[in-house]
Amino acid sequence: MMENNSKLAENIVDRVLASKEEIQKAVARIGAEITRDYEGKELFVIGVLKGGFMFMADLVREIQIPLQMDFIAVSSYGSSTKTSGVVRLIKDIDKPLDGKHLLIVEDIIDSGVTLKYLKEMFATRGPLSIRVCTIFDKPSRRKVEMQGDYVGIEIPDEFVIGYGLDYDGKYRNLPDLCVLRRDVYEKE
Ligand code: IMP
Ligand code: MG
Repeated sequence: MMENNSKLAENIVDRVLASKEEIQKAVARIGAEITRDYEGKELFVIGVLKGGFMFMADLVREIQIPLQMDFIAVSSYGSSTKTSGVVRLIKDIDKPLDGKHLLIVEDIIDSGVTLKYLKEMFATRGPLSIRVCTIFDKPSRRKVEMQGDYVGIEIPDEFVIGYGLDYDGKYRNLPDLCVLRRDVYEKE
């Protein structure tokens, strides 16, 4: 079923939703789009920790223009699989963002609450533009209006782990995007 981390995936993975090869293809496509769209501009890439770290690392290597980058940290999930709907900012960016083209890099858009919060916060700091980039998207789960400007792979309403996404802080290191077995979290 999985070539990598099969030991780690054992007993917790229902199935693979996107293989690491499919993910890399999507990352390369998005990187090329961003390279084309921001040619000659000052790009400032903002990764959303922790989930976005792996996508961020892969994506910036597919962007062929000079860029600056930084990270912010937010938390919306407790240790369960349901969002609390409340976003907490844990680490901010200390540099001014005025005059910059901002690209926010996220692991997944689910309810849309996190990115709405971040876009509104950054909009108060005088950037030239703000766009959102996500490797995964669950459009059927939206609670607020939020559309990614660059979207990797659309997925159904399932709780997923791997490629940066966690369950209870674990399994971010699975190379494929996998559906978590229901019995793992429903027995809680
Ligand atoms: P939103 O604010 O509901 O859009 O959720 C955004 C955050 O929830 C993401 O950055 C993820 O960290 C987390 N999240 C949403 N869906 C999943 C999932 O299926 N697995 C793991 N984390 C998820
Ligand atoms: Mg996240």
